[in-house]
Amino acid sequence: MVEQRTSIAAADPYLLFGLLGKRVIHPGGRKATEQLFGQAELSASHEVLDIGCGVGTTAVEIARRFGSRVVAADISVDMRERAAARAHKEELGSRVSVEAADICALPFADGRFDRVVAEAVTMFVDRDLAIRELVRVCRPGGLVLATEFQWRRPPTPEARQAFLGEVCPGMLFDTVEDWLARYRRAGLAELQVTTGPFEMMTPGGFLADEGLTNSIRVMSRAMSNPVARRRMFWLMPRISRAVPFLGYVLIRGQKPAAG
Ligand SMILES: C[S@@+](CC[C@H](N)C(=O)[O-])C[C@H]1O[C@@H](n2cnc3c(N)ncnc32)[C@H](O)[C@@H]1O
Repeated sequence: MVEQRTSIAAADPYLLFGLLGKRVIHPGGRKATEQLFGQAELSASHEVLDIGCGVGTTAVEIARRFGSRVVAADISVDMRERAAARAHKEELGSRVSVEAADICALPFADGRFDRVVAEAVTMFVDRDLAIRELVRVCRPGGLVLATEFQWRRPPTPEARQAFLGEVCPGMLFDTVEDWLARYRRAGLAELQVTTGPFEMMTPGGFLADEGLTNSIRVMSRAMSNPVARRRMFWLMPRISRAVPFLGYVLIRGQKPAAG
């Protein structure tokens, strides 16, 4: 089956940023990924799954910095193409395998991976089903690390509607306590949480994630394409309305050892 490419006009906001060349597409940005690395105890002997890998930034970084083998998987062909190109460019094609996968029905054996990473993915689907899949493919004693959105304080009805009703319709998330309960129910133990503000789309966060050169490149692409420009002018005020209430939560849990 030939998979359809998505146009700038039809892409959801995350894919839109991916198509425009943004490299970090999750609420805590590079800061949250560094926190994840600090808690993941990664090594060269590990096989890691990065599900919902987007353009492959985290997957490539894991292979480059820690020497692990990484399966970078995503449901979107556009994202997978960018992830594969990035792995190739960084000459990490032998350690990063880019594969098609749906987080709700992972095509991997039980217990295959030493580490399972999901940055900003479960929120788009049936969260409990997706989290059960993350735990299923993790080996006993291995770690699951996930970044999710959370409401840092109760949003106003306008902020909630702007973000979940208009910017990301269908996306679901709640509080840190709610996330913890879901990951605990899926069988993870020794749960740890790290939280922070949503800075991905603030000027400072954007610059910190992308650096000056890529920030300019992404914004010029957005401004020089009439469809992208129109979409950005629609998106930005709605995202800004929600930013004061939004945050990220990084959850780390261990799958209990067998027996
Ligand atoms: C918010 S982006 C995060 C991308 C990447 N993890 C990052 O942090 O930069 C969400 C990603 O999840 C992918 N995705 C959405 N639904 C999925 C599913 N059912 N299975 C696998 N990936 C999915 C999207 O294609 C997208 O790449």
